[in-house]
Amino acid sequence: MSKAVAGFSKLTKEQKIEWIANEYFSAPQEAIKLLKNYWNTNESVQKLHDEFIENTITNFYLPLGIAPNFVINDKKYTIPMAVEESSVVAAAAKAAKFWAKRGGFKATVIDTEKIGQVHFLFNGSFEKLTDFFYATKSKFFEGSQDLTKNMQARGGGILNIELRNKTANLANYYQLHATFETKDSMGANFINSCLERFTKTLKEEASQHEAFTEEEKQIQVIMSILSNYVPNCIVRAEVSCPVEDLQEDASVSPKEFADKFITAVKIAEIEPFRAVTHNKGIMNGVDAVVVATGNDFRAVEAGVHAYASKNGQYSSLSHAKVENGIFSFWVELPLALGTVGGLTTLHPLVKFCLEMLGKPSAKELMQIVAVAGLAQNFAALRSLTTTGIQQGHMKMHLMNILNQLGATDTEKKQAVKHFEKNPVSHSAAADYITELRTNDPSKIEEDFLQ
Ligand code: MEV
Repeated sequence: MSKAVAGFSKLTKEQKIEWIANEYFSAPQEAIKLLKNYWNTNESVQKLHDEFIENTITNFYLPLGIAPNFVINDKKYTIPMAVEESSVVAAAAKAAKFWAKRGGFKATVIDTEKIGQVHFLFNGSFEKLTDFFYATKSKFFEGSQDLTKNMQARGGGILNIELRNKTANLANYYQLHATFETKDSMGANFINSCLERFTKTLKEEASQHEAFTEEEKQIQVIMSILSNYVPNCIVRAEVSCPVEDLQEDASVSPKEFADKFITAVKIAEIEPFRAVTHNKGIMNGVDAVVVATGNDFRAVEAGVHAYASKNGQYSSLSHAKVENGIFSFWVELPLALGTVGGLTTLHPLVKFCLEMLGKPSAKELMQIVAVAGLAQNFAALRSLTTTGIQQGHMKMHLMNILNQLGATDTEKKQAVKHFEKNPVSHSAAADYITELRTNDPSKIEEDFLQ
């Protein structure tokens, strides 16, 4: 094992790259060349990216695609999606087109409350702690006025602070459980700053609280941090239409389609193994828009999956029914998103994506993201319950396979044409390219020209 490297962060970018290349690569110059190939030629853009994180050596590309034809609450959107999975953008676009002809998507923000907690240990009487909390509560607000005044001017701020007794689960464990409204910002920095101020006030006030014993005065704060579980920051997205309007092609009747679709959703509601994959399909859409708009996809992922388990068993985030001949399909997602602050004005492509969406408020972005999730889920279930997903997925994946096989542009064009009528697999594509390269080119040309 090689020695730990000291003072790495103080090395220049060039020195870091040299170190990495020499430490891990048999052809260091090749490795350096590769990293530099991904540098932006505009130095100021590169500097911006270098400064987003520590020890940046290059940029890591994800494709940015767009899914047009979304109609959400009667407004047209083209949705940006940053994602590497071949079929995601195509599936979103297909679902958008399908529902645009059937009234589009409806979306509603149900609530926007965020949560943060001060976790502390208190060795003493709960009654005395409760009295202390109510006597001190206003000081938590007053003591953070300098932090909250701008947010208050925008209509947000601290909504409430509660004392929660968690000693049944962990000895001496209590919380200040605080709720916040952060308007168009995701609010992580605001919430964490407020919580750290509450901590200061809690400790100072407890140390001077006359009714406390010396031990009770020594409140031990373990940590102060926002929660990424936001069960009261919820958006609902839905589609609906008469069952007979579900007809797309003649292969399956609308009633049969609706029945199978609803059963597929029910399976995801009761079977966790299926629910995880079902929800993963929803997150294909959600994450792609969350990333494109500069939001924190790890926070969204953690919060969404916790929400999927809120009733004690991991379950589907979406639901479907037919009532009075009307098919409806909907999803409810906890989404703490921002359209100001963070990367939103810093990252040029995030700025571009937000502008393309018409500079939405955080609430509007919640609606767009939830719709992208629902559209993705609809597209996946539609394929799964009819043709199966591999047909469409492999068609979209064909280009990756061809690139892996080192196909030329002409070979790619010929292969795409050939696989319009033939099932795609890695081996079928490899065989086809081999045939192209070895066989009489005129035969292949025929295939191409058909
Ligand atoms: C693949 O990325 C997503 C799906 O597996 C989702 C699903 O099964 O519902 C197709």
